[in-house]
Amino acid sequence: MRELAIFGGDPVVSAGEVKSWPPITQADRDAVNAVFDSNIFHGSNAPQATALQRELEEYFGVKHCLSVNSGTAALHMAIASLGIGPGDEVIVPAFTFWATAAAVLHHNAIPVFVDIEDDAFCIDANKIEAAITDKTKAILPVHIHGMPANMDAIMAIAKKHNLKVVGDACQAHGAAVNGKKVGSIEDTAGFSTNRSKNLSSGEGGFFVTNDDDAFAVAKQLREFGEVVLPSGTREYNSFGLGWNYRSHEFINAFCRSQLKHLPENNAKRQEFAAFLTRELTNIPGFRGPYTPPGREPVYFSYIVRFCPEELGLDLTMAEYKSAVMKILAAEGIRLGQWQTRPVPGQDVFLKKQGYGKGCPWECSHYNKKIEYRGEDYPVTVDFIASHSYLAGVYPPNTLDLMAKYIEGFKKVSAQPDKIVKVAKEKR
Ligand SMILES: Cc1ncc(COP(=O)(O)O)c(C=O)c1O
Repeated sequence: MRELAIFGGDPVVSAGEVKSWPPITQADRDAVNAVFDSNIFHGSNAPQATALQRELEEYFGVKHCLSVNSGTAALHMAIASLGIGPGDEVIVPAFTFWATAAAVLHHNAIPVFVDIEDDAFCIDANKIEAAITDKTKAILPVHIHGMPANMDAIMAIAKKHNLKVVGDACQAHGAAVNGKKVGSIEDTAGFSTNRSKNLSSGEGGFFVTNDDDAFAVAKQLREFGEVVLPSGTREYNSFGLGWNYRSHEFINAFCRSQLKHLPENNAKRQEFAAFLTRELTNIPGFRGPYTPPGREPVYFSYIVRFCPEELGLDLTMAEYKSAVMKILAAEGIRLGQWQTRPVPGQDVFLKKQGYGKGCPWECSHYNKKIEYRGEDYPVTVDFIASHSYLAGVYPPNTLDLMAKYIEGFKKVSAQPDKIVKVAKEKR
């Protein structure tokens, strides 16, 4: 039996072996440098922004795209461009990054949370109808960890109740349902391109839609509420409240360069995930993610479930998870915690800290009482408690590294007494 690194053995993965994301090439550097040479650094009609938008429209199979400066901005535009506003309710999954719900609040609308599926980790379509009221205007599925939500069911519910669907696809560039990419299924959608994302440009995002009216509104919202003609001419007359959500030309150029590699990078993530999931099936104590039929995830994060019961250990989930994460970290295999509670359990919701005096919840346009409690979403609570993401499951890392990860999981699984020892040391 090989000694665990935490007790002085050799680690499975050496320091520096796990490469960071995204892979940067000379082409990326050249693309950014070319922006310096062009002397055009910003503008909604700037050449890099315009070209990026056309390329993204083609990749996603959508009619319109607007490049913006963050995923949060894109989501806010996705909400606002559909006419959702003060007092309207929007249904949001309890498990997401809080910016999803912030985009709703930014337009003085009210997030109403729904728990997630117990086999995947997206909003549970079976629980959506119970959350619909006469104030509901939209459903906002999040394709979390690169897993597309149950879009067939969600679109059918939206149709039945005459609701809009806004997609948070910030973690799911290229994920698809029955061959159709997320972002192209919803009425509007927002994507992030911050550093960690499958399509990365450091910071940034983009808005997509097939709806001409939403596109026209979103375009104004991106730039101070004004209309800016392709020639750059401005009337300097704002048609309504807008922001400065324009993207930068350096970022647009970097994003275009990275976009060229998105399909092959996603394919690598899928190959690594398929290998890990297959192998983990045979290692007591751990499980890979389940993919419901028809959904094609792109593994923004590769999620591992902790299963102490498979090893017959007398440890709580928290003790087991923490001990295993410590042991694997010493082996050079990093598991990370993404989110610590359901979004409605965050202070902003518990204390209703919005605009000034409780707005939008206590403003006159919302004549209802709504209370938020994290514990009302038990599937989300359990998911967060029993899962972590496995770092480094992307190129330029290789299948050889994934094989070492599996070696590490096997090494730990074969020494349950050592897991208990590490857990007890912490007690
Ligand atoms: C699910 C989700 N929604 C929204 C966002 C917000 O994107 P950004 O950080 O680009 O504003 C992110 C990313 O950070 C995210 O992961």
